[in-house]
Amino acid sequence: MDAENEQQNGTPAATDAAATRGAVSRRAVIGWAGAGVALGAAAVGSVAAATRQDDPDPAPAAPAGAEVPFYGEHQSGISTPVQDRLHFAAFDVSEKATRESLVKLLKEWTKAAAAMTGGREVGTGAATGLPEAPPDDTGEALGLPASRLTLTIGFGPSLFEKPGPDGQPVDRFGLRAKRPEALVDLPNFKGDKLDPTRSGGDICVQACADDPQVAVHAIRNLARIGMGTVNIRWSQLGFGKTSSTTPDAQTPRNLMGFKDGTHNIAGNDTAKLADHVWAAPGDGPEWMTGGSYLVARRIRMHIETWDRASLKDQEDTFGRTKGEGAPYGKPKEHDAPDLKAMPATSHVALAHPDANDGLMILRRGFSFTDGTDGLGRLDAGLFFLAYQRDTRKAFVPLQNRLAASDKLNEYIQHVGSAHFACPAGVRKPGEWWGQALFG
Ligand code: HEM
Repeated sequence: MDAENEQQNGTPAATDAAATRGAVSRRAVIGWAGAGVALGAAAVGSVAAATRQDDPDPAPAAPAGAEVPFYGEHQSGISTPVQDRLHFAAFDVSEKATRESLVKLLKEWTKAAAAMTGGREVGTGAATGLPEAPPDDTGEALGLPASRLTLTIGFGPSLFEKPGPDGQPVDRFGLRAKRPEALVDLPNFKGDKLDPTRSGGDICVQACADDPQVAVHAIRNLARIGMGTVNIRWSQLGFGKTSSTTPDAQTPRNLMGFKDGTHNIAGNDTAKLADHVWAAPGDGPEWMTGGSYLVARRIRMHIETWDRASLKDQEDTFGRTKGEGAPYGKPKEHDAPDLKAMPATSHVALAHPDANDGLMILRRGFSFTDGTDGLGRLDAGLFFLAYQRDTRKAFVPLQNRLAASDKLNEYIQHVGSAHFACPAGVRKPGEWWGQALFG
């Protein structure tokens, strides 16, 4: 798994020693927990390199898969094998912030992100700094391994231009000319019932990890560092990944009980990633080359209605069987779908690339349940995350099609929406999130 990540991110793991000087290594804290776990050769290399720099007396390696390299050609958290948990946060830059204070924050965030994804504490740590000052790290991840934490940053349309009091767009940070054309204001789709308090945002950070406490700790610490410069606009917790970027693994099920992610872009399919996910030179502004556009949609499921639907109706909704996940007319989950064998309005018949001129997106969504809605119904559904090379040619036409005639619309409603440009990866220590954009 680590070897695969390393390959995807382009460069071996490295550490930002300056960011972590004085902090206790969480790898050191877990001690020999990882001993005896077989690591791939590349993973051994990367973990060992990190250990050498962190600790004069090298501690044993973390369990296999515990650390996803932060540095690389592309940001991790996109083609990386999907982790179990999500904490997603959309931030707004505060009115008092300047371009300089924002750049300062992005540099601090990068150091903190490199530390936390490496399983280390932020700054001087949770319990080792000045007694008179609040600790640099909030501490709730002490003793926990890196848990495959990835942190992925994206910049929303409103960072580039935002309507001022008179309704005219304001170029707050001198970035307007750098806004990619692909970073469109998403259109209103049929059936949308978007809550503005769960939509938009100047900057997003997607934290994925196998342990929810590690993901929550990461967002909390970034928010803490950002106090005065950014505020959390909205956030979303997710569990039970609803898509797979590792086709060999068992496909997870969504809250409707169906396998989700059967036909997705695999994280190691470099050709498909290049065609459909990574922005290429000439696609748009140079700063986005190697990056990807992220659409986030909070999609509520009408769970109670769904649970009263017959099995046949449920299967007709997707054009796949519920048990095996096989496309209609075929016995096995991974058999190529015969779109003519399924209802024309089924989700797969409408979303499959054969019905969309070969269009593909990389889905990376998670389930959510946020209590009940006051009417005794679960506030639950899919927090849909999709990465693509150009949203205008991917999510927008696809969602237009689905919004118009997908049978699934009987059971779902889109209630939150956001769009972000996620730049290429931070290649080495000293570089920072957004450097190509602001530099
Ligand atoms: C709550 C909302 C949704 C649910 C429950 C859902 C569920 C599913 C399921 C069960 C599959 C079949 C298994 C698979 O191949 O992964 C699927 C496939 C797919 N879905 Fe969704 N989906 C939802 C929303 C969306 C949205 C909003 C889009 C894009 C705009 C989308 C795009 C796709 C695509 C591209 C496929 C693959 C089709 C194929 O290549 O065969 N889905 N989805």
